[in-house]
Amino acid sequence: MFDVECDVLEGLEAYAIKEIQARFGRRCSSITVHPGRVRMVYAGELRSLLRLRSVVAAYLVVTYDVPRPRALLGHQHLTRLLRTLDTVRALERSEQYRTIRLSAAGEDSSVLTRLKETLARHTGLAIAPDEGDLLIRLRRATLNNGWEALVRLSPRPLATREWRVCNWPGSLNATLASVMMRMTQPAATDRVLNLACGSGTLLIERLFLAPARRAIGCDLDQEALQCAQRNLEAAGFAKAARLEQWDAALLPLETGSVDVLCADLPFGQLIGSHRDNEALYPRIITEAARVAAPGARMCLLTHEVRLIERVFAQHASVWTLSTVVRVRTGGMMPRIYLAQRTMAPVP
Ligand SMILES: C[S@@+](CC[C@H](N)C(=O)[O-])C[C@H]1O[C@@H](n2cnc3c(N)ncnc32)[C@H](O)[C@@H]1O
Repeated sequence: MFDVECDVLEGLEAYAIKEIQARFGRRCSSITVHPGRVRMVYAGELRSLLRLRSVVAAYLVVTYDVPRPRALLGHQHLTRLLRTLDTVRALERSEQYRTIRLSAAGEDSSVLTRLKETLARHTGLAIAPDEGDLLIRLRRATLNNGWEALVRLSPRPLATREWRVCNWPGSLNATLASVMMRMTQPAATDRVLNLACGSGTLLIERLFLAPARRAIGCDLDQEALQCAQRNLEAAGFAKAARLEQWDAALLPLETGSVDVLCADLPFGQLIGSHRDNEALYPRIITEAARVAAPGARMCLLTHEVRLIERVFAQHASVWTLSTVVRVRTGGMMPRIYLAQRTMAPVP
């Protein structure tokens, strides 16, 4: 039995729990939720936790019934912590771990500096000032008295996907993309269209959830498409999807030919402008309604809350909005909108 804590984007806790329960069923119990965190007792293989796609990072939690962190330098507690570090390191190839990082309030105090140096000496890892491969977070225990050490189960957060070989300004957090695509209830028969795909995050995360009959990503920007192509190749989906330099508001696709649409629309901050969006959003939603088959699902993310809600209200005959979720990401609170195409013909 392990105590496990997962970092999750705030707002997506319920979706992370859904994934955890779908994957592990009765192997996880005593699930508790705090903003941005999901805690559970887990009775499965630790390695399986690394497959979670809606979780930013997963940690093994070790609780110490001690009044102060100084006690962790004692033989018994130190041995237990080192054993936990060995367990975690054994999940990955050894060369993945080169540095160690102890993160705690007052981490530069003499006691925590000694603890950090002791851990570095025993593990043979170099101390990292900020990002470390082997990350240990030390904090007061949340459920009991004492202190707890949270040891991250992977050298990078799970949200840092191996497929991302090309970064793109404004690229979407991959765990958020995975949740958005899960909301569309993926099926192998889906004809999927990722509008304004940028580096391809939604498209790639969709293909990890299920195959698709057809998967297209489109963007106006040729450089973005090249970036998406590299990411698709790294993900092993070069043949499963195609990329097109199309205007999302003027698609060369037949009416009613798409089952799933998705987009992380320009927020008008890093990309585009609010003025441009006033014109762009209604055009995209109208064109999406034209290419969508009756019953098609559309999942959008935007920070332009008033604008998108006004546009959905104007298009209520063709799009039924079913779910709105606020999520904290990149220092902002955008919203996910899930809508379904009605049977009404395009006006
Ligand atoms: C927020 S970014 C998408 C980022 C993407 N989700 C990712 O993870 O990389 C918005 C994208 O919209 C594209 N875009 C803006 N207007 C467009 C239009 N009319 N048609 C197609 N793409 C457009 C931009 O080139 C940009 O790549």
